[in-house]
Amino acid sequence: MRIPEAKIEEIRNSTNIVDIISSYVQLRKRGRNYVGLCPFHHEKTPSFTVSDEKQIFHCFGCHVGGNVFNFLMNYKNISYIEAVLEIAEQAGISVQYEKSEDKSTQSELEILYDINLIAAKYFTDNLLNNPKGEFAKSYLRQRNIKPQTKRLFGLGYAMPVWNDFYNYIIKNKIDVDKTKELGLIEKRDDGSYYDKFAGRLIFPIFSTNGRVIGFGGRILEKDDKYAKYLNSPESKIYQKRKSLYGLYHSKDEIRRLNKTILVEGYMDLISLYQNGIKNVVASSGTSLTEEQVQLLSRFTRNIAVIFDADIAGYKATERSIELLLKNDFDIQIVELPDNEDPDSFINNYGAEEFDELVKHSKNFLEFNVSQMDKKGILSNPSKQTEGIREIIRLLALVSDDLKRNLFIKAISKKFNLREKLLENELDLALNRIKRNYSEVKTSQTVVGNKSKEYGKLDEIQNEDQIEKEIIKLLFANEQEITDFIIASINVEDLQNKNYRKIFHTVWENFQLGNYSTAQIIEAIKDDNLKNLVLSLSLNDVSISKNWEDDLSKEKINKDFYRFTYETVKKFKLKIIKSKIKINNQKIENSDSEEEIQVLFLENQKLENQKLEISKKKFINDKLSEANFD
Ligand code: GTP
Ligand code: MN
Repeated sequence: MRIPEAKIEEIRNSTNIVDIISSYVQLRKRGRNYVGLCPFHHEKTPSFTVSDEKQIFHCFGCHVGGNVFNFLMNYKNISYIEAVLEIAEQAGISVQYEKSEDKSTQSELEILYDINLIAAKYFTDNLLNNPKGEFAKSYLRQRNIKPQTKRLFGLGYAMPVWNDFYNYIIKNKIDVDKTKELGLIEKRDDGSYYDKFAGRLIFPIFSTNGRVIGFGGRILEKDDKYAKYLNSPESKIYQKRKSLYGLYHSKDEIRRLNKTILVEGYMDLISLYQNGIKNVVASSGTSLTEEQVQLLSRFTRNIAVIFDADIAGYKATERSIELLLKNDFDIQIVELPDNEDPDSFINNYGAEEFDELVKHSKNFLEFNVSQMDKKGILSNPSKQTEGIREIIRLLALVSDDLKRNLFIKAISKKFNLREKLLENELDLALNRIKRNYSEVKTSQTVVGNKSKEYGKLDEIQNEDQIEKEIIKLLFANEQEITDFIIASINVEDLQNKNYRKIFHTVWENFQLGNYSTAQIIEAIKDDNLKNLVLSLSLNDVSISKNWEDDLSKEKINKDFYRFTYETVKKFKLKIIKSKIKINNQKIENSDSEEEIQVLFLENQKLENQKLEISKKKFINDKLSEANFD
């Protein structure tokens, strides 16, 4: 599917990014921009910035950013095309596109999604309709999985031979390399291919939006030669760190109950779900990641963690607690009887008993204390202090004052320690966190602080700083400024590699008549560069703060134009000076009279140029009439 560039531009122009984002994030006006709490990471002070003028957004904390389409893609986990179509629909713009049979017009990601969907259908068909699937069917019966659960979660079966799926994709002319890229088939040394999931029960892994992004496969007959579970490898459409198994099915219930239950395994999730406990997600055996926690926090910040009652399970629980506390989750830890997992428990005892278990869950403090008790830490006086410190360290991660106080009281009671003593310990821990936080903070806001110097030319000293100002000005959304810079500056003269690339992209877009930041952003494919542009182009916040709102546009432009002129002038002079310096070095090191002559002449020319430029003045307040030639 392909939508013409002009149409995309029409769709983008039909909407206002501030309106769109406002329906998901609470924004308030600050200076020229809008700010709010970032929906993509957890924060307490807003660093998520939206520009009405430039129609872009950027989070200075987690560096997500882009135009209105990029926002929807990230927020809803949808593809670019889906985002474009969504805005088009809202704006009442009809989009005619051909769902082309010619795969080359389909985006690469769409092809990968398609292959996964084809594979998922093939696996389900094996399980539900193929007589050879009877073996897997009886396995599921034996594990109490109901037919409708099979269908709901799209369970499937990979035939227990090494080439059934491979033959299927060949017959259906499916791209072999891409199928291999998705980890569905693998190449042998002799060049032949085999099915990676052969003989396994298949669990499709869905994105939050319901697209098949990968697969989990369980072995049906115990065989030490093979892993019990096999998961799809990382691919362009599947990033383990960012996905949670089951979330697509459970997200509505999680929102409704404002609570989620976290389990380890595929089977745990499915069993709970079919027993009516539908607000459940699974980490699929790996320990929880920051990205998964952030994803969850869009739906709820209340979580009950149930990991298996074994050492690995406890370790995973401990790691998860810290991550969840940092992200302001309210945590309950549910403990299972020995040798049970959620799936076996609910099958052995039923849903009511399970609810009971959740009701009797521990908070993180009770959990930690009981863990330490079990390890004998608390009965050993020399280890006890350390144990309490560890608990206080975790407690410092809780951001709610009131909650912290309640915990302090509980710890004081449990260990018979004065509250004051614990409070002091907590203060120390809090200060440590604050210190770390402010270190991170300052390094992140360097750009922001510098922008206060925007307009104070004297303070812009080093080359990099001047180049940065120039790039910022390129994105000032003033065509006159951009025209002037493009005309006066030679891209090769920029010393900073990144700025050079950005300048080049802007220049290319100019040739095509593209001036809008929102549009240029899209042309920058490198994520780091994109971030750089977003943060540079949004941090003129503080200059505009100095300008009273009732100041006429004309006055702003006059100052802005003068600033642009002076910055470019400064840059030009710097370049000439450094050329002279390089020549002087060459003169010093050269043995050839002839070469020295040439260099002297060159330097003379440069000195003249320098003089000419430094004499130039900004007149008439017009950039269109200014030049440095
Ligand atoms: P059943 O035995 O079918 O009940 O599965 P389970 O979910 O109880 O398995 P287990 O507790 O052993 O593992 C929990 C989760 O860890 C699984 O659902 C998988 O996501 C993951 N896992 C387990 N074994 C493996 C393995 O060998 N390889 C990989 N990649 N993941 C595994
Ligand atoms: Mn199990």
